[in-house]
Amino acid sequence: MKRKIIAIVLIIGVGVYFLLNGSEKAMNKDVIKRLEQEENAANFNFETKSVKLNSGYEMPLNGLGTYRLTGDTCYDAVSIALASGVRLIDTAYMYGNEEEIGESIRDSGIPREEIFVITKIYPSQFDRPKEAIELALEKLNIGYIDMMLLHHPGTNDVLAYKEMEKYVESGKIHSLGLSNWYVKELKEFLPQVNVMPALVQNEIHPYYQENDVIPFIQNLGIVVQGWYPFGGRGYTSELLNNETIVKIANNHNVSSAQVILRWNLQKGVVVIPGSSNPKHIKENTDIYGFELTEEEMQEINSLDKNEKHDWY
Ligand SMILES: NC(=O)c1ccc[n+]([C@@H]2O[C@H](COP(=O)([O-])OP(=O)(O)OC[C@H]3O[C@@H](n4cnc5c(N)ncnc54)[C@H](OP(=O)(O)O)[C@@H]3O)[C@@H](O)[C@H]2O)c1
Repeated sequence: MKRKIIAIVLIIGVGVYFLLNGSEKAMNKDVIKRLEQEENAANFNFETKSVKLNSGYEMPLNGLGTYRLTGDTCYDAVSIALASGVRLIDTAYMYGNEEEIGESIRDSGIPREEIFVITKIYPSQFDRPKEAIELALEKLNIGYIDMMLLHHPGTNDVLAYKEMEKYVESGKIHSLGLSNWYVKELKEFLPQVNVMPALVQNEIHPYYQENDVIPFIQNLGIVVQGWYPFGGRGYTSELLNNETIVKIANNHNVSSAQVILRWNLQKGVVVIPGSSNPKHIKENTDIYGFELTEEEMQEINSLDKNEKHDWY
């Protein structure tokens, strides 16, 4: 709150200064952009490790991604994550693991309302959205779904979203969001729906930073969540051994993975690293005890190669 007030006062101050100087040209766009970003990132509560969504619900700032985890591996990874304090689990119809995730959550003994589950319906389901939503509820079997996303833009995406809106009214889904929606897609989609998405989940890592897209989404009051924080399988070693990231990790006596996750949080991006390794799962939660300097943030920002690691 304090940072928000400071940011607002600074923005007004900068505005008055330029008004008095009458020089539109002289306006320092970088300063304005930084202040806007600071204000957005400030919505993250680092004490509670959560962010308040525009739907009114609180969502944890770090979670477990479960792409490619199935069966016992998935069940165990979710159990270990929950036991390590993780309270956000990301899944999808496409991952084929909603049943084992639901089971692991039920077996954990942790009160349901303390856990935040995100699932997604796939474009192949968009023409029969009610069926798709009922299937997710049935497979997860945890009473309600905290957040449901459309996995990709596709034919009938508006129809599917409007069906999800009905489930928000009935309380079976708490919040709605989108995945793999960028500026153009959002501009087309948003005027056609009634409930503002609370979350957009897109590919974000040091080699693919989406620096134009993130503030656009955040300025709509939507929280941004990044997938493939370590570049995704097949790319993690290159990213985790990047010499700039290793150097910064050494500065703070933490791992490269922790530096990347912390960089995301300081940009106002929620993280859902995927892992089935207990040591990594625990390490990925330990990202609140250090802070990257502005200079270190810039060093990582400069690694952007606009290098997408998947087709969507
Ligand atoms: N919406 C979408 O379209 C979309 C697309 C892709 C992914 N996602 C979501 O985003 C999540 C994250 O993506 P991802 O899991 O594919 O890729 P990722 O998080 O970038 O990387 C996962 C890889 O990193 C390794 N790893 C994890 N923590 C580590 C650590 N501390 N040190 C070293 N290595 C570590 C994991 O190996 P170990 O198992 O050995 O730890 C795994 O091989 C997914 O699980 C999924 O929930 C969404």
